[in-house]
Amino acid sequence: MDEKRFLNEKAGWLRDKLYLEYADTINEVCGQYETRTILEIGCGAGLIPAHLNPQLTYSAVDANIHCVREACSRNPTLSISLEDIRDFSHPPVDLVCSFAVLKHFSLLEVSTIFAKMSSFGRYFLFTVQLSDVDIDDGTEGYPHIWIEESSLKGMLLLAGHEIVWRRTRWEGESHDTMGREDYVLTRRME
Ligand SMILES: C[S@@+](CC[C@H](N)C(=O)[O-])C[C@H]1O[C@@H](n2cnc3c(N)ncnc32)[C@H](O)[C@@H]1O
Repeated sequence: MDEKRFLNEKAGWLRDKLYLEYADTINEVCGQYETRTILEIGCGAGLIPAHLNPQLTYSAVDANIHCVREACSRNPTLSISLEDIRDFSHPPVDLVCSFAVLKHFSLLEVSTIFAKMSSFGRYFLFTVQLSDVDIDDGTEGYPHIWIEESSLKGMLLLAGHEIVWRRTRWEGESHDTMGREDYVLTRRME
């Protein structure tokens, strides 16, 4: 993402205010499952932390330099670093979060990325686009994927996680594809 695209994306994030919903969902999950330490992967402009319960300990990574600069200047006291999830390692946290990120990996790569993301946390909260078929709609200039329910199950199996909670964010047509987006919370299987 170059700077021009980042500024466009940021304008959309600020306009849509989805970060408020993400923060509410994290606060809700942390209240229910007693998770305190949080790692966000693909934090974008770093809009979530200001709306989190102050008792939570938050850190984040993003692979884009413009995102990380903006996220750091909004949250100067937090640990937010430039990292590509593919080459990243982190000590265990209670909860890994990643919103609107998995959809930007190819259908070939997404299972490996999912396993990597989930490996850092006892719990993993993410959004995922689901449809009747696995498809990359190719509408964004880089991967923009939808996966079948059975593919989600396969990813969970590979990662050794099980679903403990889920909620549909929206359903209908988007990017010429009929589908939906769900929040999913998974937990490492003992
Ligand atoms: C669609 S944006 C979502 C940003 C934010 N989570 C939100 O919902 O507003 C996807 C984010 O994932 C980041 N990202 C993409 N590939 C990544 C990778 N390999 N490792 C870490 N972050 C990545 C992008 O830089 C971008 O900030």
